[in-house]
Order: sequence, then structure tokens, then C-alpha cells
Amino acid sequence: MQTDLVSTILPGLLSSPKYVPQWYTYDKLGSELFDRVTNENPDYHLYRVEMSLLKEHTDKIIDNFDETSVFAELGAGNSSKMHRLIEAILKKEGSLRFIPIDISKEYVEESAKNLIKLFPLLDVQPFVGHYLDGMVHVKSLQGSKLLVFLGSSFSSIPEAQMLPFLETIRDAIEGNRDRLLIGLDTNRNPERVKKIYSHPTFVDFMRNILTRLNKDFQADFMQDKFDPYVEYNKSNDQNIEDWIIEDPEYLNTGFRSKCQQTVTLERIGKTIDLEEGEVIHINSPGKTSIKWDWKQFEKLAKAAGLTTEQIWTDQDNLFTLGLMKADLQ
Ligand SMILES: C[S@@+](CC[C@H](N)C(=O)[O-])C[C@H]1O[C@@H](n2cnc3c(N)ncnc32)[C@H](O)[C@@H]1O
Repeated sequence: MQTDLVSTILPGLLSSPKYVPQWYTYDKLGSELFDRVTNENPDYHLYRVEMSLLKEHTDKIIDNFDETSVFAELGAGNSSKMHRLIEAILKKEGSLRFIPIDISKEYVEESAKNLIKLFPLLDVQPFVGHYLDGMVHVKSLQGSKLLVFLGSSFSSIPEAQMLPFLETIRDAIEGNRDRLLIGLDTNRNPERVKKIYSHPTFVDFMRNILTRLNKDFQADFMQDKFDPYVEYNKSNDQNIEDWIIEDPEYLNTGFRSKCQQTVTLERIGKTIDLEEGEVIHINSPGKTSIKWDWKQFEKLAKAAGLTTEQIWTDQDNLFTLGLMKADLQ
């Protein structure tokens, strides 16, 4: 077993309240279950609406780029949202280097092979690892860069890390033709949010956390002893260093223990006690992901040295796609 899994996962399970980082949901099975969310959950606008915005605005998005450019996607998954952009730039320029960055090793490597079959002119170089390592890699590459971060995945970066995260993005796109394309969930309707994340496909996806804990730690979490936990919270402004999120709103997900129970992590000789009703949160307790007002994000991005070039949204303002660039003084 990887020792870094013990140091990254165990502290959250032993703390109060308990939590598991969101990225842990994604091994090969988790990525496959996430595909079912996007394909089978009709309310999951994070896929449907973002995909249609990407299709509608492809020409403007690729406008800056040529055959020497690099497209890199953070948390690429199967990169299906990139197909239209890749197709358009290959048609315009004939070649492109594409770096899908993802922690889910087998899945991103398999997806890269599928991309090559689909686009033989595409030079696909997957990067397996965490976002931040991927960005350091992208920064080292020649050519103008389009860094793409879709699916509102930025919303699950723990808040205290959001500003430094965007500063790292800014450092990776400091060429004057470089751009960041970011997609954020701007649906702040509590009932709608709860419906989306209570759908059976999403619950199955979340439950992969318990499946994975059982596998990695030889643990005995029993799925039927936990109910899915899905809440929508509004909270007071959060002071994060010198940045304030005004009126933050959060999706909060996890598992609620149906009874008092003790779970054994046999591989590392530890036990975890849970009270009846106690929640194991996904991501920071109470804050699985932020549901944005674009202005909140823009304020944060500005503090990190990023400026909005253009934004696109749907008529119900459920999802927003922003094309951004580094402030170049
Ligand atoms: C919500 S899915 C989005 C997939 C795709 N980009 C989309 O928009 O449909 C998040 C993806 O990010 C990857 N991921 C999650 N946390 C990560 C991290 N810390 N570093 C790298 N990849 C991560 C997951 O494996 C998964 O493929």
C-alpha cells in the first residue's frame, strides 16, 4: 500500500468531523462511475450545459492558437468535452499537442489511446498526477498554451488553497497568447442542486469512496450501514487570508452512519468509531464544493493576477464558462 495514501487519507478519518478528500473518489472504477453520472443523469447540467457552451463558442476559444500550441486539460477524465476544440484546431492548423492531466492513471492512459484513434493527427501526452504537478509540467513546455479546467472541478479545491492554486495557473499561462478556459457551476438553486447530487448515479459514484477504502486499507465499511448525505449550505463570509468570499454557498456531500459502529482498517491496524448519525464528509467538512456567482470567482481570480477576457453562460445561468488571461504588467 502506498504510504502517501496513509498520510493523506487517515488524518481525515481520525479527525472530528471526519472527511475524505474529493480526489480519492477517482480510481478507474470511480472514473467509470463518473461517466455514468454524465451520461445517465438528465439533471447533471455540469456536463450537458458546459458541453453546449463549448460547442457554441469553439471558434472564439481556439482563435489565439496555432499548430505550435499546447492544449492541457486539468482533471481531464475521458476528455470528451475537448473533442470539439481538438477537432476545430486540427481542421484549422493540422496538428496539436494535448496534455490530459489526471490522477486516475489507468483511466487517463486508456482515454489517451482512444483520443489518438479518434484524432490520428493529435500528439497526446498524458500526465498522471495531481493538478499542481501537472501545471509545473505545462509551464515547462514551449508554445502558446490553452489550460482548460472544466466540470467546475475548481470548486472542490479546498478554499484556503484556491488563491495559491490560481496563482500557479497564472504562472503557467504567462505568455501573451496563453489562456485559461474555466467552467464553473453557477446553479445556486438549493432544491435543484440536491436533486442532482441525490440521483442514484451520483450516489453510486460517491459510494466508490467506501469501496476504495475497503480495498486500499483492507477495511470493513459496509455500504448498507451508511446513507448518502447531500446538503446545500449558505454560510457567513469566509475570511481566507486577504480574500473574502461574499455569501458563499456550498454543496456538502458524504455518508451518514446509520448506527453506532466501529470500522477496522486491517492493513494498518487502526479502528474508526462512528456515532449514529455521524457524517463522513467528502472534501472539507461542510464544503464539498462551492456553487458560484461569477463575480465571486472574478474577484478571486483578479487577486491571483487573472483577468476575464470573455464569459459565456446559458439562459438560466446554470453554468458559466470563462476565458481568462494573465495580467501582464
Ligand atoms: C468532475 S471530473 C471532470 C472530468 C471532465 N474534465 C469533465 O469536465 O467532465 C474530475 C476529474 O479530475 C480528476 N481529478 C480529481 N482530483 C484531481 C487532482 N487533485 N489532480 C488531478 N486530477 C484530479 C478526476 O480523476 C476526474 O477525472
